[in-house]
Order: sequence, then structure tokens, then C-alpha cells
Amino acid sequence: MEDPLSKYLNHHKRHGRLYFGPSQGICYARSMSARFDKIVLVTGGSSGIGAAIASEFARRGCRVAITARDLTRLGTAADKMVQNGAQVRAIACDVTRREQVRRLRDSIREFWGDVQILVNNAGIARAVSFADMTDETWDQTLDTNLTGAYNCCKAFLPAMVKVKWGRILNIASTTAKVGYSHVTAYTASKHGLLGLTRSLALETARQGVTVNAICPGYVDDERTRENARVMAEKTGKSVDDILRLFAASAPQNRLIAAGEVADLACLIASPEMSGMTGQAINVDGGAVMV
Ligand SMILES: NC(=O)c1ccc[n+]([C@@H]2O[C@H](COP(=O)([O-])OP(=O)(O)OC[C@H]3O[C@@H](n4cnc5c(N)ncnc54)[C@H](OP(=O)(O)O)[C@@H]3O)[C@@H](O)[C@H]2O)c1
Repeated sequence: MEDPLSKYLNHHKRHGRLYFGPSQGICYARSMSARFDKIVLVTGGSSGIGAAIASEFARRGCRVAITARDLTRLGTAADKMVQNGAQVRAIACDVTRREQVRRLRDSIREFWGDVQILVNNAGIARAVSFADMTDETWDQTLDTNLTGAYNCCKAFLPAMVKVKWGRILNIASTTAKVGYSHVTAYTASKHGLLGLTRSLALETARQGVTVNAICPGYVDDERTRENARVMAEKTGKSVDDILRLFAASAPQNRLIAAGEVADLACLIASPEMSGMTGQAINVDGGAVMV
């Protein structure tokens, strides 16, 4: 089966946004989407939504650092992006570990300079009833999805404030706005991430920095398929039936492509979008309208 990153890159090729040049198989961008040269960090950039976001920033001319804990998967993702002519660096880091986040900041700074666009995308989700959830699941979920984003904001914001330009983008979820059953830790972490987004947006409003969130619904990626497999086992339904149920939870009756989230991320982070801050934009086929 095609992995999500190849699927994303192939999608752009099919729709004329990337094509292979006459020599060396180099891939050029030919869409009219705005290009800008910024230094970007995407946490959780080795798969799914994070890899799609990193690819899209790179395609638009940015220098992109991607981070995650597993260096092998990270390297594979970066190799695919680089094949398309992009400037991408893979640096392993666990966002829950503050000293690792500081080392990550220093290493990007040494290589390219200070991060100008921070995308807090790293996240974990475990579906389990509140009664069966372990303390460990609660702690890990909050540590990764909320404190991980806090750690990165703490490390990367000061340089943005210093030059009076920066973008922070938090990949939340529709669970940041409404409750869902069997994901209490995840929902609490994403509600918290939205609180962080809004309060930090107020504090940085006059400092040239915008802080926004994107709230995807069910995205057509490996994580959603894994969730569907778990639910299929529990309910006796087929994986396809569960995926159809996920899709049907949105008025558009479909899953969201990771590329749609990536396009929005680039738009929000673009130099022109200086007036939008403290917002949380849903990309969910109309499932949540608050
Ligand atoms: N998929 C969806 O339907 C959906 C919907 C709404 C919101 N979201 C949100 O979108 C984001 C990405 O989701 P996804 O579906 O693309 O997930 P994914 O494919 O499971 O990717 C998660 C990424 O985060 C990294 N990661 C996890 N823990 C980390 C840590 N402690 N430090 C650094 N990196 C870490 C993972 O790599 P390692 O394991 O190697 O560290 C991986 O690169 C998440 O925040 C998620 O909550 C997803």
C-alpha cells in the first residue's frame, strides 16, 4: 500500500503541482501557490500530517527541519522530501524532554539560523474508556500533545520576538472544541492546546508573532487506519465499515487528505497572513462548526 508521504507527493504530481524536470529527475514546483524562504520546524514530521506539512513548506521554498523520536523513520521521510529538490534536515528529538528541545533549537540555529515558523504537530492518541485508561496513558498524552508544544514554544518563541516576526501553528483537532467518548486524555490535551494557542496569541499580539491552531477531523492516514483496525477488532465490524463510519461523521461524508491540512498550514504561516492570530480553524468536512 502507498505510504501517506508518497501518496501526498504523488497527489501533487498527478494534479500538476510537481513534475519531473528533463535532467537528473529533479522535481520542480509549478503551482501558483506562494513561495517563501523561511526556516521551519515541524515536530512529528516523520509521518502522516507532519510529513505532509513539512513537504509542503519545503515545496514552497522553505528550509525545513523535521523532528520525531525514531531517527530511522525520520530519515526515510526526509530522504523522500529531499528527492524532490527540497532543503530538509532530520533531527531526532523527544518533545517531552526539555533538554532535547533546547539541543534541537541550537542545532537548527547553528545550521540555518533561528526557527521562524514552528509547527507543533507531534501527537499521540490512544482510544480507551476512562475506566480502563492507565495513569501512564494520561501522563504520556498530556506530556506529548500539550507540554511538548509548550516546551517548543518556550524554546523557539524568544528568537521570534527578538526579530519581531514569527509564526506558531499548533495542530490540534476537532477534539479541541468538542468532547468525544473514549479519548478523555486526548480531548483534554487538545482543549489545553487551544487554551495555550489563544493565551499566547494575546501575549504576542504586538510582537510580530501569530499563534494559531488547525483542527483536523478524521484524516486519511495510517493513524486513522490503525484506529479503525482497533475499533474493528472490538466491534466485529470490518475496517472499511469503520472508515466509512468515520467519513459519515462529517457532512461531506469523506476523510480529510493530509495535503489539505498542509495547504492551510502554509497559508496561515505565510508572510501575508499577519492579521490572523488566536484562531482555531477546522478542516473536518463540516463536522464541527464552532
Ligand atoms: N490523523 C488524524 O485523523 C488526526 C486528526 C486530528 C488531529 N490530528 C493531530 O495531528 C497530529 C499528527 O497526527 P498524525 O495522524 O499525522 O500522527 P502520526 O502519523 O502518528 O504521527 C505522529 C508523529 O509525532 C511523532 N511523535 C510522537 N511522539 C513524539 C514525541 N514525544 N516527540 C517527538 N515526536 C513525537 C511521531 O514520531 P515518533 O513516534 O518517531 O516520535 C510521528 O512523527 C497529531 O497532533 C494529531 O493529534 C490527527
